Amino acid sequence: MIKTDNGILGMTPFTPDPANPRQLRDAFGQFATGVTIVTVATDKGPVAITANSFSSLSLDPPLVLWAPDKSSRRCAYFTQAQHFAIHVLGQEQTDLCWQVAKDGNCLADANLPQNAEGVPILPDCLARFECSHYATYPGGDHEIVVGQVIRAAMRNTGDALAFFQGQTANITST
Ligand SMILES: Cc1cc2nc3c(=O)[nH]c(=O)nc-3n(C[C@H](O)[C@H](O)[C@H](O)COP(=O)(O)O)c2cc1C
Repeated sequence: MIKTDNGILGMTPFTPDPANPRQLRDAFGQFATGVTIVTVATDKGPVAITANSFSSLSLDPPLVLWAPDKSSRRCAYFTQAQHFAIHVLGQEQTDLCWQVAKDGNCLADANLPQNAEGVPILPDCLARFECSHYATYPGGDHEIVVGQVIRAAMRNTGDALAFFQGQTANITST
């Protein structure tokens, strides 16, 4: 008989404990993701956030989702925005990933172009999804923001920036 707990099969079982989220955070970190930057226009200029909770959702209608943390000081900008843009980062954008994670206003002086809806957009990403707000759902300590893709762009070449075990990594296309 195959046992699936008690460390057999090389895995350590645990029960998630909200008072001590380290283990669950680490287990979530075993799921390798891409990395995105989400941008919005605000009355204080462009606000951005690094997010790996992005997922494609639907082709018809074209929908994507991501999840802002309610405890982030930037959260309300993204849940209230009628329009936002999600940028899939390439491996050469590692520094940008960490800069935006640290400072949501760091693109204020970058003189970014804006799309037709006034959303600041980043050049030279692997893909960009320009969205209008479609729905927001409760997601525990996060909000789940669903965007309808009204315009998209992509590059045909380039390596991806990935996030795995709390660190960035590169994924090389063949
Ligand atoms: C690779 C990476 C992925 C992240 N993904 C998310 C995410 O999906 N949702 C989120 O709210 N914050 C995410 N963050 C954290 C935010 O980018 C940012 O660091 C956080 O909002 C900072 O808190 P503050 O807005 O209060 O300054 C991520 C950070 C990194 C480095």
